[in-house]
Amino acid sequence: MDIDWAALRAAATAVAARAHAPYSGLRVGAAGQDSDGTIVTGCNVENASYGLTLCAECGLVSAQHAAGAGPLVAVSVVAGDGAPLIPCGRCRQLLLEAGGPELLLDADTGPQRIGDLLPGAFTAGDLASRSGGSRGAVPPESDSRHDA
Ligand code: THU
Repeated sequence: MDIDWAALRAAATAVAARAHAPYSGLRVGAAGQDSDGTIVTGCNVENASYGLTLCAECGLVSAQHAAGAGPLVAVSVVAGDGAPLIPCGRCRQLLLEAGGPELLLDADTGPQRIGDLLPGAFTAGDLASRSGGSRGAVPPESDSRHDA
């Protein structure tokens, strides 16, 4: 499908202006599009307890689900100046699950696959195959880590 990267970056830049970033001063905006063309956005929200900061991509994936949007096919993340910002490691993981490895991320050099930015990622497939399903918790009595 055709992606209007200029429009996506403009939406990310617009929402960056609504960021709550009084501590770092770095405003971040993210905009994503699903295969139907639905656009969702998010901005970073910092907190006086610094570790509770929400990256713009957190808001983006929350908006994706709140809007009932499908998997994201294209995402633009920008700083307040409107130029692309490379997502942090945690947010690469969020974006991977929000769209799969073929999700395209806006970059100065042209769109990049999120799968290339997070190779060898832990995914739902690993969870299913290594946990024994959704009820895969190891009972304490059979977990050698509890052997004293
Ligand atoms: N930030 C994001 O919103 N997304 C990223 O991928 C990298 C970092 C925000 C978090 C924090 O509010 C500020 O940028 C400085 O780290």
